[in-house]
Amino acid sequence: MTILRVLGSAAGGGFPQWNCNCRNCDGVRRGTLRATPRTQSSIALGDGYQNWIIVNASPDILAQLRASPALQPARAPRDTSIVGVILIDAQIDHVTGLLMLREHRRPLPVYASAAVLSDLSTAFPLTRMLSHYCGLDTRVLALDGSAFAVPQLDAVELTAVPLESKAPPYSPSRNAHRIGDNIGLRIVDRQSGRRAFYAPGLARIESHVFEELSVADVVLVDGTCWTNDEMLALGFSTKTAADMGHLAQSGPGGMIETLDRLPAARKVLIHINNTNPILDEDSPQRHELEAHGIEVAYDGMEIAL
Ligand code: MLT
Ligand code: MN
Ligand code: ZN
Repeated sequence: MTILRVLGSAAGGGFPQWNCNCRNCDGVRRGTLRATPRTQSSIALGDGYQNWIIVNASPDILAQLRASPALQPARAPRDTSIVGVILIDAQIDHVTGLLMLREHRRPLPVYASAAVLSDLSTAFPLTRMLSHYCGLDTRVLALDGSAFAVPQLDAVELTAVPLESKAPPYSPSRNAHRIGDNIGLRIVDRQSGRRAFYAPGLARIESHVFEELSVADVVLVDGTCWTNDEMLALGFSTKTAADMGHLAQSGPGGMIETLDRLPAARKVLIHINNTNPILDEDSPQRHELEAHGIEVAYDGMEIAL
């Protein structure tokens, strides 16, 4: 059995965000809103035998590991259950946690596309910086649909699925898309055959992405914004959700419409921005999701595959 554990369910900035006083952030800080704080975007995949893969290394990884004792089995004076890190893009909220893992005793196995590894060796030179600490043992992910496994955790078969979202603002390919700037991850438990698809950044439901979603038992997809102009309307940004590579949930062509067409047993929104009204458990938007059988990921959520 593969266990999928949500380490961090918020988008970049987390919830509440340190400098934000939007209705959600202020309300959760004051305790006047029924909502739960969330750390930044990451999941872990475990085999139940003390081996875990981290998918996206969040800036909050140390707090996430403290909140997840199963990931710290303490078999030796210095020990970890992390057998590898997979990166789905080079966004700050997905890669900065690598710096926090610098005390690793061996080069840390990191799986990412050539595009992501190129950003991490140039514009945000984590590979070079970390070569002075544990070092990264980087492996280039194939984007041709071939499956891979992480040694020590081969009960789970993984496939990188290139898709449309956005490279980070610091990347030279922010406005010049390269295939592999963003991927989704197909996760299959070899024994049960059960399948999940994880895509916290999804700009558009391309036909191959819809096919992936249609055959998954569990989907965990982009839950960043409820409306496309959410950040704009609050005066927090000049960018729409689409500008940032995220498909909004509500309205015609929104994520809810796609989720409604899927047979998946679990439909979960993840990577939720702190401005998104679905974080307020009493909001009409949250009730609308409930009516559609759509769940909102939270830190510590576990799903068995
Ligand atoms: C995004 O996915 O657009 C990021 O969360 C932005 C960020 O890291 O600030
Ligand atoms: Mn993000
Ligand atoms: Zn906020």
